[in-house]
Amino acid sequence: MPVHGLTPILLCLLPMWRILTPVSSHPQHRQCQLIQRMALCNNGKHSFVPAELPDNIEELQLNYNHIQTLQDNSLLRYPSLNTLSLACNSLEKLESNTFQDSKLLDSLNLANNNLHIGYQETSHALKTLPRLRALDLSENKLDDEMVATLLQNLSSLEYLNLSGNLLRRLDETSFRDLHQLKELDLQRNIMFEIDGAFDSNPKLQRLNLAFNYLPCLTDFHMTQLVVLNASHNFIEWFISRQDLNNTFQLETLDLSDNKLLFFPFLPNQSHLQNLYLSHNSIRFYEHIADNATFLNSTTTVEFYNLKTYTRNVTAKLWDESLHGDISSLENLDLRGNQVEYFPRGFIHKMPALSRLRMCTNCLETLNLTSEQFSGSLYELDFSNNRLNQIVADEGTLTTLGNLTYLNLSLNDLEWLPSGLFSSLPSLRSVDLSYNNIDICVPEEAETSTDTISDCVDWKKVISLRQLYLKGCNLKIIPSSVFTGLPLTHLELSDNPGLIVQESIQSLSRTLQHLGLGNTHIQDFDFSHFLSLKSLNISRNSLAHLPPSLLNIHLKVLDLRDNRLSSIPSGQANTLAPKLHTVFLTGNPFNCCETEWFKTFKTTKTINMVGQSDIECEDIFKTTHRVDLESFSCFEKGEESIFWYILLIVPVCLSFVGISIIVLLTFKPKMLQKSIKKKCMKPTSY
Ligand SMILES: *[C@@H]1O[C@H](CO)[C@@H](O)[C@H](O)[C@H]1NC(C)=O
Ligand SMILES: *[C@@H]1O[C@H](CO)[C@@H](O)[C@H](O)[C@H]1NC(C)=O
Ligand SMILES: *[C@@H]1O[C@H](CO)[C@@H](O)[C@H](O)[C@H]1NC(C)=O
Ligand SMILES: *[C@@H]1O[C@H](CO)[C@@H](O)[C@H](O)[C@H]1NC(C)=O
Ligand SMILES: *[C@@H]1O[C@H](CO)[C@@H](O)[C@H](O)[C@H]1NC(C)=O
Ligand SMILES: *[C@@H]1O[C@H](CO)[C@@H](O)[C@H](O)[C@H]1NC(C)=O
Ligand SMILES: *[C@@H]1O[C@H](CO)[C@@H](O)[C@H](O)[C@H]1NC(C)=O
Ligand SMILES: *[C@@H]1O[C@H](CO)[C@@H](O)[C@H](O)[C@H]1NC(C)=O
Ligand SMILES: *[C@@H]1O[C@H](CO)[C@@H](O)[C@H](O)[C@H]1NC(C)=O
Ligand SMILES: *[C@@H]1O[C@H](CO)[C@@H](O)[C@H](O)[C@H]1NC(C)=O
Ligand SMILES: *[C@@H]1O[C@H](CO)[C@@H](O)[C@H](O)[C@H]1NC(C)=O
Ligand SMILES: *[C@@H]1O[C@H](CO)[C@@H](O)[C@H](O)[C@H]1NC(C)=O
Repeated sequence: MPVHGLTPILLCLLPMWRILTPVSSHPQHRQCQLIQRMALCNNGKHSFVPAELPDNIEELQLNYNHIQTLQDNSLLRYPSLNTLSLACNSLEKLESNTFQDSKLLDSLNLANNNLHIGYQETSHALKTLPRLRALDLSENKLDDEMVATLLQNLSSLEYLNLSGNLLRRLDETSFRDLHQLKELDLQRNIMFEIDGAFDSNPKLQRLNLAFNYLPCLTDFHMTQLVVLNASHNFIEWFISRQDLNNTFQLETLDLSDNKLLFFPFLPNQSHLQNLYLSHNSIRFYEHIADNATFLNSTTTVEFYNLKTYTRNVTAKLWDESLHGDISSLENLDLRGNQVEYFPRGFIHKMPALSRLRMCTNCLETLNLTSEQFSGSLYELDFSNNRLNQIVADEGTLTTLGNLTYLNLSLNDLEWLPSGLFSSLPSLRSVDLSYNNIDICVPEEAETSTDTISDCVDWKKVISLRQLYLKGCNLKIIPSSVFTGLPLTHLELSDNPGLIVQESIQSLSRTLQHLGLGNTHIQDFDFSHFLSLKSLNISRNSLAHLPPSLLNIHLKVLDLRDNRLSSIPSGQANTLAPKLHTVFLTGNPFNCCETEWFKTFKTTKTINMVGQSDIECEDIFKTTHRVDLESFSCFEKGEESIFWYILLIVPVCLSFVGISIIVLLTFKPKMLQKSIKKKCMKPTSY
């Protein structure tokens, strides 16, 4: 066919044509996109700044090109330029006079290049930019000395990005000239020491030190700083200077993923709102501070400034008043620490607290009454602790009127305050999974007068939408417990043998997600659950798909680890267009009935999670991946051949047998001869 003959020629011509176009008469800016005064020339093959652009452009983007040197004359044509971006170019240097006519340039992005090679000449070029406000030098393999050289005299700079370089140590000379600096990104370097580095930057508001090797931050006194991110270091101590009378402007402090043993020694006065301390080793030591037997042991820790001895820092350990000013705190994240209890009055010191995340700590009891949580509390996560009971009197519960999200999963809870949930009018989401808690039989709940209860009920909690009760050893859900509750999410998985059918029928109008994995359910009727979008019926030994699923508009269906051998074509055809996500692994599918797989596979809108792990068994009981289709199975057409062979073999055998008999009958002489020959005996006649 002619098409076949032409294709190679076309393929050869294409690269030639590509190479020729820029050189031939067409102006280069054909490769750039012009939007008003902005030229976008990203992802091209430019080795030079294009010379054909309108000379009044104000912004030029040349990211992902091949410019190695920015030459003296390259920007002369564009004197109005205020923004230039050359990220990802393997750029080695900017020649000294590059910016001789670019006096308006205020934003320069040089990220991801090789400026460590020509940093000296580049620094001369940068010095000629009187208005430079934003400079991105990230990912350029720059070390301490190179950075100091490059930043000389950049006194107008407000934003500086040095992330992903090779900085080790900062001192007072590092950013000496940057008097206007407001934001500095130093993440992903190899810094292990900072010594007086920011004393010349009184306007610095945002500082990112994440992913370095800092062992401590002591003598913290940057009162103007608003955001400090020192996450992912090796920080053991965070100590603010305590003798300052000014209020710190600090609003966000991120010390997560460090090695803190103590709650940070925060400024005495601050506006701190967000404190992120997850994944440290923090605990509280009030029991030691109060304890006479420890009085004579070391109670202070001192940090010496090795260079000058002028700024020794002394902190009294065990003194919980050094927690500092937490009165504006709204978010406190202490996930993954070792907190066993809160010091007296600690929670009460945070009247604005809205989110408290205590997941994965060592809390054993919780007395909401004595802690005095504030009414602003919105989200409370105590999951994965060792809580055995929660105590609260009625008055306390009524103050928690804004509490919306409560996660108590993965504890050893056996006791909860009676009427806990019905006293919380804003509660929307409750997770009680993996506890030993039961569901109250309605009559029982009404008559009980105890302040503490070993079962939970949700009567009248009309705000509740999401309820998670995984792995609670539930055996039966009393009918009518969910009556009147407009739940949208109900998770009951991992309660083997749970009897559930009647009790959740009252949720059929509202329920969108239902989790019934590993509950041993068999003949559940889903046909009334018309709002259901997501259903988990994995690990239930189901031998076929519940037919009632076909009437509802499921988007997510988890059928893993059942005993399905096939999905009848009719069902597959009905489900495929509705589903977005389906989980099917862990079923003993029959390789000879995989029509459903083709149906799902050819439906573009469906995601078969773990598609290559779906397996089937062929007639010889060998396991195969369904998607390889290389198993021995006699499907439809082939099947009949198999039967033909089975039929033909006996026919042939009979034919051969008959032939032998005929031979024997009609040619006895031949036979005799042959026998005689074989016997080697002479004839008798
Ligand atoms: C650059 O700064 C140095 C000191 O850091 C100073 O001596 C020099 O005069 C400055 N040069 C310009 C051009 O401002
Ligand atoms: C600094 O540069 C890095 C890498 O180029 C980037 O991921 C980061 O977002 C930048 N920082 C800021 C504050 O823009
Ligand atoms: C701190 O920096 C890390 C790394 O860039 C980032 O993941 C984290 O979100 C930052 N923290 C805050 C509070 O912005
Ligand atoms: C803080 O104020 C107190 C009294 O108001 C004063 O004695 C002290 O010197 C001040 N400290 C500083 C560092 O200004
Ligand atoms: C901290 O501030 C409180 C008032 O907010 C004051 O009473 C106390 O003396 C201050 N502590 C220090 C060490 O300055
Ligand atoms: C003192 O410490 C001991 C040992 O840690 C502890 O058993 C005791 O309860 C503590 N006493 C007080 C008053 O905290
Ligand atoms: C602490 O030390 C003093 C003198 O060094 C001694 O008199 C006192 O008994 C000690 N107290 C404790 C609780 O060991
Ligand atoms: C800091 O500590 C060192 C060692 O103990 C001491 O020699 C020096 O005088 C101290 N400096 C100040 C300012 O306290
Ligand atoms: C909880 O705290 C309150 C107030 O401090 C106290 O009266 C009550 O006895 C405590 N309950 C328990 C069980 O510790
Ligand atoms: C509860 O939340 C609302 C809206 O966010 C807020 O106006 C109100 O002050 C909060 N209640 C308390 C006691 O903080
Ligand atoms: C509750 O916390 C557990 C463990 O931290 C987490 O896996 C689960 O998703 C949380 N539940 C909800 C509803 O967010
Ligand atoms: C369905 O429930 C099982 C059993 O609890 C669980 O392992 C699985 O992750 C759940 N599926 C989805 C999609 O969340």
